[in-house]
Amino acid sequence: MLRFTVVTIFPQMLDSALGHSILHKAREKGLIEIDMVDLRNYTTDRHRTTDDSPYGGGQGMVMKPEPLVTAIEDIRGKTGGARVILLTPRGRVLSQQDAHRLAQEKELVLICGRYEGIDERVGAFVDEEISIGDYTLSGGEPAAHVIIDAVSRLIPGVLGNEDSAADESFVDGLLEYPQYTRPEDFRGMKVPQVLISGDHQRIESWRREKSVEITRERRPDLLAGASFSTAEKVREKEIKSYVYVEIMHYTD
Ligand code: ADE
Repeated sequence: MLRFTVVTIFPQMLDSALGHSILHKAREKGLIEIDMVDLRNYTTDRHRTTDDSPYGGGQGMVMKPEPLVTAIEDIRGKTGGARVILLTPRGRVLSQQDAHRLAQEKELVLICGRYEGIDERVGAFVDEEISIGDYTLSGGEPAAHVIIDAVSRLIPGVLGNEDSAADESFVDGLLEYPQYTRPEDFRGMKVPQVLISGDHQRIESWRREKSVEITRERRPDLLAGASFSTAEKVREKEIKSYVYVEIMHYTD
C-alpha cells in the first residue's frame, strides 16, 4: 500500500480527477490511498493567508514558508518515513525511472505550489523537487496528478493485466512500437503483414526494430539511455546514427 498525501490550497481540485478508472479501482482495492490536506489549515491568521509579496519587488505573490513547513512537519510526524516532494518547474524533470523509484515508497507527500513562486527556504524541508516538464503550470496540482498516475500504475495489482506495464513506452528506454487493432484495412491503410503472420519471433523482432526506429526519429536523446544488442549497435552504425551509438552504454 502506498499512501499519497497532497498538500494544496485546492483540495477539491484533484478529487474528481482521481476518482475514475484505474486510480479509482486502485483506491477501492486498498493498493493506494490518496489524502488531500488543505494548506489553509496550517495558517494562523484570520484571513488564512498562504502568500505574500516578494522581497525585492516584482510581479505576483510568493507562497509563505510557515504554512508549508508546518504542514510538512505535521505530516512527517504523523507518517514516520514519508518522502516529501515539492512540485515546481524548477525541479528535476520526472522520468519513468523516477516513477519506478517512487513506487517503492510507502508514504509520498506531494506539495503543490501556487501563484508565481514558493519561498526558497521551503526547499530545506523537502526531500526532492520535481517538475513534470519544461512548461509552467498555474499550480502543482496537475503535476501531483501526473505523479500519482505514473507511480500508481507500477504498483503490483493496479493494472488489470500484469504484463501491460512491461511492454509500453520508456520501459526499456525506448518509445513503444506501433500498435494496430481491427479493421485490417482502415481507409486504405493496412496493418503490417508481419503482425498477421502468426510468427511470434518475427513479430517480436519487427516490434523491437520499430521501437528503435521511432525512438531514433522522434526522441534520439533517449537512445543514449537504452541498451542494445551487438547486432543492433552494428545496424545503428550502418544507419549512421553513430553519434548516439558512440555514447551508448554497452551492456553485452
Ligand atoms: N508547477 C508549475 N509548473 C510545474 C511543472 N512544470 N512541474 C511541476 N510543478 C509545477
